[in-house]
Amino acid sequence: MKRHLLSVDDLAVDDIETLFATATEMHDVQNRQVKKLPALRGRTVINLFFEDSTRTRSSFEIAGKWLSADTINIAGKGSSTSKGESLRDTVLTICAMGVDALVMRHAASGAAQQVSQWVDAAVINAGDGMHEHPTQALLDAYTLQGRLGPLEGRHIALVGDLTHSRVFRSNIKLLTKLGAQVTVVAPPTLMPSGLESWSKEAGFAASYDIDEVLPTVDAVMMLRVQKERMAGGFFPSPREYTVGYGLTRDRLAVLGENTPILHPGPMNRGLEIAPEAADAATSLILDQVSAGVAVRMSVLYHLLAGEENDS
Ligand code: NCD
Repeated sequence: MKRHLLSVDDLAVDDIETLFATATEMHDVQNRQVKKLPALRGRTVINLFFEDSTRTRSSFEIAGKWLSADTINIAGKGSSTSKGESLRDTVLTICAMGVDALVMRHAASGAAQQVSQWVDAAVINAGDGMHEHPTQALLDAYTLQGRLGPLEGRHIALVGDLTHSRVFRSNIKLLTKLGAQVTVVAPPTLMPSGLESWSKEAGFAASYDIDEVLPTVDAVMMLRVQKERMAGGFFPSPREYTVGYGLTRDRLAVLGENTPILHPGPMNRGLEIAPEAADAATSLILDQVSAGVAVRMSVLYHLLAGEENDS
């Protein structure tokens, strides 16, 4: 493992397998009455979030606590950056207190990478703008593998607002690394520019037609329409988005009773996913949340407890 986790590019297939094996052990801890391991006793983990978050921030906090680390949350809005302090001064100040890991979410793509060059702490990217969210991709693949077995050759569709999605970017990298066959689906206005050459290079497919793709998939991941990142009109109306690209009741029927449904959350119920699909027996959405704690425990453990770091 590298010293930081900034992108899925930092992970070799061996690293992913190691992280998943440890996550499985951590999942057992989650099911115990006393959820505590001493592995990171005396280590300090800071969650520094400049963008909103429910599950990512709280699951990193719980993960750190269950490993006995001291975890502290700092929200960008309440920090001195809102008084004009630069990101560099903020992170240097925090790290001067003696911090072992900095879990960071920021609206700027590349922010975590930049910070990793300024501080000694291990930096974990918990979402940088529209770029990457590696622990989300790890927990998604871990959840899928738990249901489908090895992902090699499995056909997985990622559907929705691809342009604004860091989850999609990290998932493409991770799923293709694991040998899955991936098709991404979006309306033309939410298909990122440059996708064609990326898809050729990385070996995944793209489609504008969800109804053509759904009957062929082993799993489908719906992605949130990220209204807060949209300046103009990316589709005529919410209704038309749902008709064209939502996982509606009719499309749920096409998926049948064996095709898992994922969504990283937060969901816009009724827009990209119908309540019947979100709550279906095949929905793994809450399994993803629960896997999120185990996978983040594993990531913190390998970055902080091991002697195996190679750079
Ligand atoms: C995602 C994110 O923040 O990138 N959510 C998450 O981490 N669970 C996806 C999103 O915001 O739609």
